[in-house]
Amino acid sequence: MDLYIDTANLDEIRQAADMGVLDGVTTNPSLVAKENADFHDRLGEICEIVNGPVSAEVVSTDHDGMIAEADELIKIADNIVIKLPSIVEGLKACKTLSDRGVRVNMTLCFQPLQALLVAKAGAFLVSPFVGRVDDISGDGMEIIQQIRQIYDNYGYDTKILAASIRHPLHIVNAALIGADVCTVPFKVIAQMMNHPLTDSGLKKFLADWEKTKSQKSSKQPAMA
Ligand code: E4P
Repeated sequence: MDLYIDTANLDEIRQAADMGVLDGVTTNPSLVAKENADFHDRLGEICEIVNGPVSAEVVSTDHDGMIAEADELIKIADNIVIKLPSIVEGLKACKTLSDRGVRVNMTLCFQPLQALLVAKAGAFLVSPFVGRVDDISGDGMEIIQQIRQIYDNYGYDTKILAASIRHPLHIVNAALIGADVCTVPFKVIAQMMNHPLTDSGLKKFLADWEKTKSQKSSKQPAMA
């Protein structure tokens, strides 16, 4: 499973990239708004850190406006992926861009039929928002499962990107279902290598090693 970071913050992206397991980045208008940075400049900076897909979202809600924005965004770097909302105009723009060979991430997906249509339109990625469905007492992971089955039934190549991830268990379940990608906030990426038994076990190993070292040095014969 590929791992993307869901942020427009450069420090977070650098720290995740330094771990050596980062495959891409997703941004959205809300994440960019937190940064107080020029949108295009920031995307350029992100693409210098990460070679994998970097999703940049349009804010137009009509086909022609989306295409005009996409035409500017793809000039930033070769790894820019155009993020479009899962609405009818977005579907049309997805088809236009995909036919031109531009990679598209269809975002704000909340039900499997949106995912079916965007796959037919040639989307590179579809982003079902797991956490936002859970937030309103739905089952976000069930949508990932349904999309996986539909795509497998018909052999669609569109990658399922589990988005709106809130905690490590979301990632475990997405991986068990077979989501192709998870996009994860930095805070949750940092939790992925944590376990209290790893910490306490390591502490004990190091303490025992210190004892072994001091025993060895006390057994050394005194030099004549
Ligand atoms: C995905 O690309 C979105 O940026 C993101 O996962 C939204 O998550 P949220 O529900 O935490 O805002």
